[in-house]
Parts: sequence; C-alpha cells; structure tokens
Amino acid sequence: MFKHILWLYLKKHKLFMISIIFLIVVVSVLAVLPAQILRVIVDDTIGSKNYSKLVILAVFYTLSYLLLGIINFLKDLVLVSTSQGFLAYLKIKMLEQVHRFKYQTLVTKDTGSLEAYFNNDTNSINELFTSGVIDMTTDLFKMLAILISIFIYSWVFGFIVLLIIPFILLFTAVVRKRMLKAQLKTKNLEGNVNQELLENVENIVTIKTSKCSSYIKKRYQNVLNNHFKANQASNFYDAIFSPTMQIIRSVVVAVILLISGVNSSIFGMSIGMIISAISLLTDLFSPIENLGMEIQTIQKSLAAVKRINEFFAFPIDEVKTITSITGPLALSYHNVSFSYDKKEVIKNFNLDISQNAKISLQGPSGSGKSTLMKLALGLIKPDRGEVLLNDKPTYLLNEEERQKLVQIVYQEPFFSAGTIYEELTLRDQTIKPEACYLALNLVGLSYIKDINVLLNPKEYSSGELALFNVARVIVHNPQIIFLDEMNAKIDPYTSNKIINIIDEFAKDKMVISINHYGKPLANAKIIKLTNC
Ligand SMILES: Nc1ncnc2c1ncn2[C@@H]1O[C@H](COP(=O)(O)OP(=O)(O)OP(=O)(O)O)[C@@H](O)[C@H]1O
Ligand SMILES: [Mg+2]
Repeated sequence: MFKHILWLYLKKHKLFMISIIFLIVVVSVLAVLPAQILRVIVDDTIGSKNYSKLVILAVFYTLSYLLLGIINFLKDLVLVSTSQGFLAYLKIKMLEQVHRFKYQTLVTKDTGSLEAYFNNDTNSINELFTSGVIDMTTDLFKMLAILISIFIYSWVFGFIVLLIIPFILLFTAVVRKRMLKAQLKTKNLEGNVNQELLENVENIVTIKTSKCSSYIKKRYQNVLNNHFKANQASNFYDAIFSPTMQIIRSVVVAVILLISGVNSSIFGMSIGMIISAISLLTDLFSPIENLGMEIQTIQKSLAAVKRINEFFAFPIDEVKTITSITGPLALSYHNVSFSYDKKEVIKNFNLDISQNAKISLQGPSGSGKSTLMKLALGLIKPDRGEVLLNDKPTYLLNEEERQKLVQIVYQEPFFSAGTIYEELTLRDQTIKPEACYLALNLVGLSYIKDINVLLNPKEYSSGELALFNVARVIVHNPQIIFLDEMNAKIDPYTSNKIINIIDEFAKDKMVISINHYGKPLANAKIIKLTNC
C-alpha cells in the first residue's frame, strides 16, 4: 500500500524525479572538478608563468566549490519540499483510512499507538527521503566519480584507495552503531523524564494532599540522573568520531606522500596529479562516513514502511451504500446475535420499534445495552440476524444520513475545541444561531449569551454539560434519540429535568434510553436484558 501511495505521488510530481536525477549527476561531476583544476594549475600553469591563465584557473577552482554548494543547496531544497509534500499526502491517506476502519479496530487501538503511526513512522519515512535513499545515491555516485578520477591517474593508487575504503567503512559502522545505541537509550529515557513530569502535573493535587512530594522528587531525580548518564555516553562517541577520522585521513595522506617521495615511479603520477589525487582522497572520506549513517536511516525507515503497511491492513468497514431513508421510521432487531471476539454478548435478540415509540433498555453492567445501540447505529454488524431501519441494514447506512436521523446523549459529553455554536451544531452550518439560543433556553442554559466564544468544558459542571448535550440533540432535531447512561454523572434533579425536556421535545420521535436508575421516559416500554 505504501508503495502504491508513493507511486501515485511521484506520478503527480514527475518534475521532482527529473530534477533530483539531474542534481545528483551534477553534484557527482562537481565533486571531482576542483581536484582536476588543481592538477592543471600545478602541472601546466605554475611552471609556464602564464599568470592570467593562473588567475582564471584559480577563479574557476573557487567557483567550482561555490557551484557545488549551490547545487547541494538546491538538491536539499527540492528534497525537503517534496518530502514534506509527500508526508502531508501520506497523512491524509492515513486519516481517510482511519475513517474506514471498523469500529472494533478503532476502539481496540489506543490513541498513543495510532498517533505513533502518524508521527513517529511518518517522520522516519521523511528521513528516507531527506537523508536516506537520495543522499546514499548521491554519495555512491560521488565515490564512483572520485574513484574513476583516481584510477585514470594511477591504477596502483586506485587499488590502495580501494583497500583503505573497507577499513574506514568498518570503523564508521562500529562507532555509529554504538552512538545510535546510546542515542536510543537517551531517547527512551527522555520519554521517562517527560512521563514522570506529566504524571506529577496530572496528580499534583493527590501528591500535595498525600504529602508524598519528597518521594516523588527522589523518583524524578533518579530518572534525570539516568538520562544524564546515557546522554554523556552518546556525547562521548559524537566527540571522538570527527577527530579520529581526521587523524586517519592525515596518516593516509602522509603515507602516500612518503611513498611518492621515496619512489615517484610507483604511482607514475606528475606532481599535479599527486596533489589532485590527495585532494580527491580527502574528499572521499565524507561520503564513506555518511554511508554507514544512511544505511541505518534506510533500515529504520524500512521498519516504518512495514508498520505503515500494517496500518493499511487493519480491518476496514464495508462501503456504506444506503444514502437515504424515507417514510415513517421502523427499527427492528431480527434474531440478532453478536460476539466480541469469542464472547457472545447478544443472543437471538428480537425487538420492533416504531416511529414515536419510547424504549427503556435495562439490565446489569455487561448485559449488552450499549452493544444494542451500536448495532442500531450500524457501527457493528450482527454475526447472525439483522438490524434494519425501514428494512435496510443499519450497518450499510451512510454517515451523513445517520447524522441527520440519529443523535446520542452519552454519559461522557465530548467536545472538539470549538466555539459554543460549533459544539452545538457539530459544525453543521445549515443550523441557524437562533436555533442554538432557543435550544439553550429550553434546557435552562439561557445564561449563555454569546455562542461565538470558545467552549471551555472546565468552566461547566457535569450537569450543565449534560444539559448542553441535550441542547445539541435539540438543535439537530433528529428522528431517533439514544440516551446512553446520560444520567450516570448528574444529580437526580438535573436528570429528571432532562427526562422532562426530552419527553416534551420527543413526543413524535423514537427514543431509546439506557439507564440503570432514575425516572424513565413517560410511557416507555421497558426491555430487560440479562447477561448471556
Ligand atoms: N469494544 C469491545 N471489545 C470487546 N468487548 C467489549 C467491547 N465493548 C463491550 N464489550 C464487552 O461486551 C459486553 C457488553 O458490553 P456493553 O457495553 O454492551 O454492556 P452494557 O450493558 O452497556 O454495560 P454498562 O451498563 O456497564 O454500560 C461487556 O462484557 C463488555 O466487556
Ligand atoms: Mg453501556
């Protein structure tokens, strides 16, 4: 699936592919250009006393580095903008996929693990672009261009360089591996430090009242110390890497110079060629150093690609094909059975509910009351039997149509950081502000005078939030209302008030109420459930 999405994106951005290939080739050619100019300066120009040619070549020598810098900058610019574009494209595709997930997939995944796919994995994939495949290809091309140049100068010199490369690669790989291990440890411990702090902030009142602040301080000190030690280790490898590479580089150069000094015919190169080859040799070190890191980045990114493919393989819902329900409503359960995994929760359940019926589902915890509601909403599909709304299976009902027909009052009100108007209308802009003020009045929240301010749930009591929830139902004016334990967190007075409001508002509507206790709806038919 990942490959497919990447292919779709690249197909739309062909210019990116062409410009990257072009820039990689230019970078590789430019990587050997300064050394070639150096050779011409030393061999052909310095002795000839042709000063104007010398100045021109010196200018070209400087300009070639400048050009290399500019092309590298352009390459990075194209890469970063394209990778960001691809990431946004991938995240949108992932969000669309989340909306397709089966209800059961969604509720069994915790938010943290879903978020990890969106943040951690996509970030690793970003690196695949910016510092993985493309950089590795560039470095390999650069190495190839440098090696070809050296071999053209001298086969012997070329073979010596080929012999040195594996040792540098090995050293780089070992140090990088240890560095990465230390970095990973630091990163994990960083998580612990943050977690510890978060827990402290979240439980601050309990910590204060139970007088355990010195114990908490000691625990925090402990995680901070561990983090500090791990950080030191990673800094150590970081600090020794560059100087060691510099020492190796200078030793290699010194040995080459020594050999050329003792017997210049060994390499069969002119002075200019020797200087140019040494310059090429020093330039060869950085792509070799990078290679180890790039391979690690690619490995990490491939693990992320595997996880993203896993994400796209989570079970998805059937396509919702029913877009319209007309006529007086009739909801019916016909011999319905349903199990979560292997646990049967609903067994051969039958019930017919007509347009303006009031139903009260009662039964002990775990008897399947909320499951019956999810079946009616079409969030889950019966294993056997049928749940039909006007003879159409509810699990095939399209979300927009369901939203028009059904509203739910949950025990836990949910909010999405919107204004009072947005929270009431669930961002349905066809609902007029007047309807919102009317509904607020009806539920007794008339003191809310401005619905265009942000709703801060912390400023309201649980009872007021429950009333807000009822106002939300009223503004949508649905034909079916579900009340799922809406009175569990509120006082009997508010609960009775809500029941009275709904009784009045929902005379001609279908209401299915689930509650353990409290006043039932007027004329409600009571359905008793038992544990399977
Ligand atoms: N998403 C789920 N995955 C697995 N099992 C579940 C899931 N949701 C509910 N169950 C199980 O199904 C059974 C019925 O759950 P349901 O929520 O329908 O009960 P309920 O009658 O609404 O209970 P309560 O009165 O406590 O709200 C419970 O035993 C519960 O553990
Ligand atoms: Mg329930």
